[in-house]
Amino acid sequence: MRTQVAIIGAGPAGLLLGQLLHKHGIDNIVLERHTGEYVLSRIRAGVIEQVAVDLIDEAGVGARMHREGLVHDGTQICVDGVRHRIDFKELTGKTVMVYGQTEITKDLMDGRAAAGAQTVYTAEDVALHDIFADQPRVTYRADGKVHEIECDFIAGCDGFHGISRQSVPADAISSYERVYPFGWLGLLSDTPPVSEELIYVRHRHGFALCSMRSPTRSRYYIQCSLAEDVHAWPDERFWDALKPRLDAQARERIVTGPSIEKSIAPLRSFVGEPMRFGRLLLAGDASHIVPPTGAKGLNLAASDVRYLSEALLEHYQEKSAAGLDHYSARALARVWKAERFSWWMTMLLHTFPDSMFDRKMQLAELDYLFGSRAAATAFAENYVGLPF
Ligand code: FAD
Ligand code: DHB
Repeated sequence: MRTQVAIIGAGPAGLLLGQLLHKHGIDNIVLERHTGEYVLSRIRAGVIEQVAVDLIDEAGVGARMHREGLVHDGTQICVDGVRHRIDFKELTGKTVMVYGQTEITKDLMDGRAAAGAQTVYTAEDVALHDIFADQPRVTYRADGKVHEIECDFIAGCDGFHGISRQSVPADAISSYERVYPFGWLGLLSDTPPVSEELIYVRHRHGFALCSMRSPTRSRYYIQCSLAEDVHAWPDERFWDALKPRLDAQARERIVTGPSIEKSIAPLRSFVGEPMRFGRLLLAGDASHIVPPTGAKGLNLAASDVRYLSEALLEHYQEKSAAGLDHYSARALARVWKAERFSWWMTMLLHTFPDSMFDRKMQLAELDYLFGSRAAATAFAENYVGLPF
């Protein structure tokens, strides 16, 4: 087989890139290790920045998002039982969209199927070859046979545990990492959200987040120990741990119900530099991870894809290497700012095991955030997404 761009991974980064390239007549094949159903069963991000909304529109798959997504003008932060509000729209003129990653992925899969573009699901043993040569190749196993794709470029969009970053020589990549001493236990339920806006909760028992997917579907998270087993958390135990962290009004209003999904995510900051290795270009979680606080992971995947699709278009349409040469530096400049914001918000709102001094710093920082228009504006500017 031959294609222009072989894309590894059918998560949001791979599917969005595939759709944008296809729209401009650039041939691509997506290889995904799992089934489409499995990819859709992973409950992940929920808040989409305007720049990501714009890109999804540009890919031609935004119609359902605009019909069903919820536009949020602000967010709430509850500190030890007292709620505060940050008004994005007033402070920055911008808003965010609440629309699940699952729904975006489904819209992209449907768009890809309608365009007749090729996706190979359950592709096993995907391997990258000759990434520093002019004609790289990808091999994989399907239906008991080994297949080979010759291509011009490989886009590594296969997430943090994917094969693409692992295929790079160890001395060609510099990694920067912080692992946090806790995780998030998430629960999805068909119950109305407790509030019209998200509530980020800082409480001495630990962080919590009240989020949503629709007016009838809620997503809640609580900070948990890394040693927790999700099976040790029947729904009642989850609700009992969440409620004391909320303010009195939220505690009174919350509607609990059976979970549809429950999972634990560890929290990690990671960046691998650079993002280009010869003809292999990494995008999204394959290159960097943020802790979920602040909802930047999916949005960063989208901004990488914007830079990368523009660079590939420049290569094919204008015969210019400038976009590809600058891809890594341009993408990383935005990545590091989102890393900083996610790290800062994680440090601000979680309970850390040891230091009383750190706790006092959190409270001082929060007091400053709620008391200073400049601080609130800086928060809002980062939350709604920094400009390209
Ligand atoms: P992924 O979504 O990881 O997609 C990569 C794809 O590549 C997968 O489908 C995978 O199966 C496939 N793949 C992997 N290896 C191979 C291989 N060898 N061959 C072929 N295919 C392969 N972000 C937020 O903003 N808010 C959240 O609440 C949030 N919650 C999260 C919870 C969890 C448990 C995780 C892991 C992430 C969460 N994120 C969240 C981050 C966000 O979901 C990611 O940033 C986003 O999914 C990145 O998209 P991606 O396409 O780069 O990677
Ligand atoms: C969600 C996750 C986040 O990490 C966040 O900051 C906001 C919302 C969510 O899953 O809804």
